[in-house]
Amino acid sequence: MNSTSISALPLNSHLSYTADGLALDGVALAPLAQQHQTPLFVYSKSAMQDALTAYQAGFEGRQVSICYAMKANSSLAVLQVFAQAGCGFDIVSGGELERALAVGAAPNRIIFSGVGKTRAEMRRALQVGIGCFNVESVAELNVLNEVALAMGTQAPISLRVNPNVDAKTHPYISTGLKGNKFGIAHEEVLQTYQRAAQLPGLRVVGIDCHIGSQITEVEPYLDAMDRILDLVLAIETAGIALAHIDFGGGLGIDYQGDTPPRANELWQSLFARLDARGFGQRHFMIEPGRSLVGNAGVCLTEVLYLKDGEHKNFCIVDAAMNDLPRPAMYEAYHRIVEVQPRARGAAMYDVVGPVCESGDWLGRDRSLTVQSGDYLAVLSAGAYCMSMSSNYNTRSRAAELMIAEGQTHLIRQREPLSDLWQREHLLPSATSAA
Ligand code: LLP
Repeated sequence: MNSTSISALPLNSHLSYTADGLALDGVALAPLAQQHQTPLFVYSKSAMQDALTAYQAGFEGRQVSICYAMKANSSLAVLQVFAQAGCGFDIVSGGELERALAVGAAPNRIIFSGVGKTRAEMRRALQVGIGCFNVESVAELNVLNEVALAMGTQAPISLRVNPNVDAKTHPYISTGLKGNKFGIAHEEVLQTYQRAAQLPGLRVVGIDCHIGSQITEVEPYLDAMDRILDLVLAIETAGIALAHIDFGGGLGIDYQGDTPPRANELWQSLFARLDARGFGQRHFMIEPGRSLVGNAGVCLTEVLYLKDGEHKNFCIVDAAMNDLPRPAMYEAYHRIVEVQPRARGAAMYDVVGPVCESGDWLGRDRSLTVQSGDYLAVLSAGAYCMSMSSNYNTRSRAAELMIAEGQTHLIRQREPLSDLWQREHLLPSATSAA
């Protein structure tokens, strides 16, 4: 075994090296890769439960609802874990709504975010009775009012406030700054609530914000909260009651030695400030995604070829940007480790996939001890990997396994290739060029 790479591996409490190589919850991963082929996602149910417990531990005695942001990983079995643990869901499309309903989620615990809800999506969400629409513009407010009135009902709403706070995260995943497409500008929030309160098809129930993702500090949350509480005071002074306050997404995770606060520490800081301002007993909501699933999953991939170049060595693997789009999209870092480490022969490689794009890389300048046929594990692959995967280069989506109570379950079959073109149609034959 290569002791350097092992000691460099920040094993979390679910991932460890055993005599059989890398194991998740004590289940060796190499035999799973052999049996199910690669690329293959493997998740730990108990890692998801532990991450959820860290959030719940922080708010005992308070009124808090956790709505899992299912865009992070919307596979049905993952949703089932959170539904059974009592979570609600944060959805952003009609498709996510149907997925949540498919696992038996309570509709009144579903909140609907997103800047571009269609009328059809609004109708369906009203029909099943979701808990809240997080409305992001005046135009959307007017349409939702019309749709609800036409159905003879009232839509429960929050306005998503853009607090103009810098979450100090990647520009593509920062959402709470003025230049973003999200939310209603801080200065316009009060008048928009006054408008909403007059619309007969709407019922104001709360206020919402979301400042970005992969946040690794408490400060941006506190800054946003202070600005939201100022608004709550102004809105309630104007006679509009707000039953809940929604803080948006959850914490970042450790990809590369990142040190986000623990969920219970975040709550401590938030509640200290909330209590000081007299809001401690409100109903709060939070919509974590990444922090509940990100470090509960790995993606296993097989080394196809090692290719020595003049300037770089390439380790060509069978997973690609269609399976794991984060490095190509955000230059995101994922740790990559050997599943069965070898004793000798470490070299530096760029780990790349088979897709025909130079941007198809999973890791750059990684020290690995590998030969073709070996398996590698891409870590922190539970969030925003499978849910962002595509069929680019006519590659089928990977299979997914979940380890639960010591058993391994196939939760998604590898997509059969023929599924990829089954809804496509050829032109009629014998069309003449003339
Ligand atoms: N609520 C709303 C309204 C959101 O837009 C998001 C994420 C969340 C909650 C969940 O945030 P989290 O707890 O996961 O930080 N694909 C990117 C991340 C995009 C996040 C978009 N919104 C990535 O792979 O880093």
